[in-house]
Amino acid sequence: MTHAAGPLVFTRVRAVDPSRGLDATVDVVVEQGRITRLGPDAAAGIAGTERVRTFDGAGRWLLPAFVDLHAHFREPGQEYKEDIASGLAAAAAGGFAHVCAMPNTRPVNDTRAITEMMVARAREIGGARLHPIGAITKGQAGEELTEMADLREAGAVAVSDDGHCVTSSAVMRRALEYARTFDLPVIQHAEDHALTAGSQMHEGAISARLGLRGWPSVAEDIIVARDLLLAEAIGARYHVAHVSSLGAVRLLRDAKARGLSVTAEVTPHHLTLTDAALLGYDTACKVNPPLRSEADVAALRAALADGTLDAIATDHAPHSPLEKDCEFDSASPGMIGLETCLPLLLGLVREGHLSLARLVDALTAAPSRIIAIEAPTLREGATADLVLVDPERRWTVAPERLRSKSKNSPWLGREVCGRVELTVAGGVVIFDAAEGR
Ligand code: DOR
Repeated sequence: MTHAAGPLVFTRVRAVDPSRGLDATVDVVVEQGRITRLGPDAAAGIAGTERVRTFDGAGRWLLPAFVDLHAHFREPGQEYKEDIASGLAAAAAGGFAHVCAMPNTRPVNDTRAITEMMVARAREIGGARLHPIGAITKGQAGEELTEMADLREAGAVAVSDDGHCVTSSAVMRRALEYARTFDLPVIQHAEDHALTAGSQMHEGAISARLGLRGWPSVAEDIIVARDLLLAEAIGARYHVAHVSSLGAVRLLRDAKARGLSVTAEVTPHHLTLTDAALLGYDTACKVNPPLRSEADVAALRAALADGTLDAIATDHAPHSPLEKDCEFDSASPGMIGLETCLPLLLGLVREGHLSLARLVDALTAAPSRIIAIEAPTLREGATADLVLVDPERRWTVAPERLRSKSKNSPWLGREVCGRVELTVAGGVVIFDAAEGR
């Protein structure tokens, strides 16, 4: 990791920030942690001077830095898979200046002490900003609510039992009521466990062919439907994690049309892969919720494009060979995603499924709104949280170049297009691809 000693200057770069209708070729100057100048010829007299790092923006894009609502950093407890330092390094390499850490650590982040430890550890490390998400229930056991006031005071930006669904309607009702008093969003992992016990992949023709027990999409839809009814009755902020099904998309679209305060996220892998990826029993493609059918993927893409799905979240879920190089039934669900997020999504832009403006919004302003942080933006006076991208640069996803400690990605060995060249958080360079790996 490097630290910018002095000002940063980007010359003749395509700056894209839909939150202010910006898409123009400009110069951008960063001084003392902020964007101080932005416009044609804004770098005149500064670029090339002493102590200034100048970046030639030709063929590059400058975007607000990304915000991830959903990552698993495994610290405390499973640091052999990932720790806060390696997780933050992976985030920075992926263009993220802000990342939320899910609470399914060991022990579960269900107390002020663990939230404080995570925040303190991240501050000590520097780099991307960590925003912990506290558990909804103690031990994520689905029974007793956590002390959400404490969690929020310690720095939690939301609550979730991610990895587990809050199954009991009574507990979910209380959780929404309680979280509302602290204005915390409640993030649901929507899975009716009664319908998914023992499941290995999406239930459909391919699961039948492979002889693997299926996870029917209705198990997601049922929980989303119930929760929307509760959220409406209570008036709470409800957010659905990793939406994967066409049915859930329909429910969310309808709820939003009725003006409910609900939001949702979708992962890069649910947008780009179907259950056909499991045909070779690749455990890297075992995720929860599972990769679904082509009809589901088409619905997710359309819902991201029209804003029914607000944000893109990686669900970066590191696992070691111990949990992945084994029989399919025994493998843990999850794949890493921070470092491949941008190129996968640029693929959707190139194929015409998504506009660049909507993509940038879904990675920056939309997730920031959900967790109520100051959104990265390209504006004079704003905190300099930004990312420099080479959209045409091809690179091969190789284990040795990934910052994450875990390498459980189905994209290993594959060539992708679009590279993060530089990530800046608070005016500090937290990732520089030129430093190599
Ligand atoms: O695939 C997943 N992995 N989904 C989850 O909900 C949990 C996550 C993990 O923690 O590995």
